[in-house]
Amino acid sequence: MSSSPAPLKPADLPRHVAIIMDGNGRWAKQRFLPRPAGHRAGVGAVQKTVEQCIARGIEVLTLFAFSSENWRRPAQEVSLLMELFMLTLEHETKKLHNNGVRLRVIGDRKAFAPVLQEKIKEAEALTRNNTALHLVIAANYGGRWDLTQAARRLAEEVEAGRLQSQDITASMIESHLALADLPEPDLFIRTGGEQRISNFLLWQLAYTELHFSPLLWPDFDEAAFSGALTSFAGRQRRFGYTGDQIERNPAS
Ligand code: IPE
Ligand code: IPE
Ligand code: MG
Repeated sequence: MSSSPAPLKPADLPRHVAIIMDGNGRWAKQRFLPRPAGHRAGVGAVQKTVEQCIARGIEVLTLFAFSSENWRRPAQEVSLLMELFMLTLEHETKKLHNNGVRLRVIGDRKAFAPVLQEKIKEAEALTRNNTALHLVIAANYGGRWDLTQAARRLAEEVEAGRLQSQDITASMIESHLALADLPEPDLFIRTGGEQRISNFLLWQLAYTELHFSPLLWPDFDEAAFSGALTSFAGRQRRFGYTGDQIERNPAS
């Protein structure tokens, strides 16, 4: 691992970073290349970001790879993205495993080819005991899907007579979401210049610090990631308290 990150106190680092990796298509277009070339180049930025997270001791990295709306793209682009997902799993899983990365895929995977579903299961099983970094890939993921499946599971509990609707709490909803067992994202990054959530982690981003980068995803490098972390470190997270309350008791 080549990375020697700029110094930032561990207490100032996010535990969980969630990224919308946007701008691959425009990166390719700028170079008069077909869009798939941008997606391929994007894999390099994923590798660099994973290395950065490991080097800095960040616990969780969630990457938005394919949204539930991305099926609307031309069929050729969709199949290229699926193929790239498959190839990247094949090429990278062993290396991730050797680097202590635990891999998890969130999203409705039933829509994927059985062979891809199998590869995902294998990669998750192989890496399940790793602790250096929890790498979450959101694929065929949508925040609305996540909340809908949580609602459905709670409704099943009610139907079965195990739960009364008036007893449903926010933490019960949370416990049925895809990232239930992980800390909420502290820092959200979106590359590509757009300032929107695009149906990413709708519930979990409630108190996340947002950082928008104008860089296209394949150009998002170590300096850009450091810049996002430095910006995060300089913010005061208030969670509804006043600034004075937080200064008096930072743990409140
Ligand atoms: C993000 O890049 C990758 C995916 C959505 C799969 P885009 O493909 O959205 O790139 P732009 O936004 O068209 O430049
Ligand atoms: C969001 O990017 C999804 C991923 C990066 C996987 P999009 O490029 O699909 O988002 P919109 O369509 O511009 O909102
Ligand atoms: Mg885009």
